[in-house]
Amino acid sequence: MLSKRPPMGFNTWNTFGTNISDEVIRTTADAMVDLGLLDAGYEYLVIDDCWSKRERDPETGKIVPDEVKFPNGMKAVSDYVHSKGLKFGMYSCAGTRTCADYPASFDHEYLDAKTFAEYGADFLKYDFCYKPDFANGPLLYRKMSMALKASGREILFSACNWGSDEVEKWIRSTGAHMYRSTGDIFDAFRSMKEIALSQIDKINYSAFGCFNDMDMLTIGMYGNGNVAAKEQEKDFDTYYKTEFAVWCMFGCPLMLGGDIRKLNEFCLNLVKNKNFIRIDQDEECRPPFIVTRCGESITFARVLSDNQLAILCVNFGERDEYGRIYFENLGITAASGVGLHMKDCYTGEDLGVVREHWQTRLAPHDCRLFICDLA
Ligand code: GAL
Repeated sequence: MLSKRPPMGFNTWNTFGTNISDEVIRTTADAMVDLGLLDAGYEYLVIDDCWSKRERDPETGKIVPDEVKFPNGMKAVSDYVHSKGLKFGMYSCAGTRTCADYPASFDHEYLDAKTFAEYGADFLKYDFCYKPDFANGPLLYRKMSMALKASGREILFSACNWGSDEVEKWIRSTGAHMYRSTGDIFDAFRSMKEIALSQIDKINYSAFGCFNDMDMLTIGMYGNGNVAAKEQEKDFDTYYKTEFAVWCMFGCPLMLGGDIRKLNEFCLNLVKNKNFIRIDQDEECRPPFIVTRCGESITFARVLSDNQLAILCVNFGERDEYGRIYFENLGITAASGVGLHMKDCYTGEDLGVVREHWQTRLAPHDCRLFICDLA
């Protein structure tokens, strides 16, 4: 079964946009292995938009890789990715053209799925631009899902219609394994916050088999690359820590978008943090719920396997705030005498057993993520 847990990997779009190439993919594959990212669980290497020539081959009708960007063809790239122990991902779109105006799969679903299978693809991201007005969105995703199943390879199907048509209500039935539920992220706390808050009421639709994808992570971009923001971020590292904590708490796919080959030590340690990843990948795949809200500070909790709980306090605001946990809101009554043995996932600090309530002061954009045992 694909997508038992939220998929993990890397996608080219955030950093490279159109500037992708055979070399970019090979060096990224090398870095994913050499830096321990594959060992940490990041297994898919996905090529996003802009990989093909502007038109299909007039004779075969197939989409053809750009010969300048990929002089050895796509199978050679895929073979290299596989030789490193990674899985290989491709991109197309349900409309007539991709979002960056390359040929897309409308009316060519079965041919394209077969082409991706010939490349040895293990993953397909499927976008939603240039959809003819008369076309039915759910049917387009159903078609590509069936085309992939008929292709002879097991291919993870990653839908990307940006949350339109109430996607969460029907996408699971198409056979998709993950689905983008929001517009595109850009490298700013403001964008990450908007995406996260927009999914609070929808995260219940995410579970094994088909996960809510809040977009590729921006960790390590520091204002560079294809999805750079106009504004200057004050404190990138705090924002990246909170982004990763929120994605893990929400149990979303973890698709890295920063240039892996250039990740600094802070970002590398962050995305390899075992405690964070343990929460993201928890086998029960439960959604979080809100425990307490104080101004712009929100505390989330999530029931994990092995009688554990994850708790995340986030300050989404621009001033210092308290992150608060009221145990009654967790369902842990004061009368029970039950407490939580809390461990900070980032610093490793053991807070011992805490009862009834707990609070911490949080700087703007900062967070604290805990794994807790009932005690
Ligand atoms: C957008 C999509 C992005 C990226 C881009 C490529 O629609 O949300 O993640 O794939 O298209 O053009």
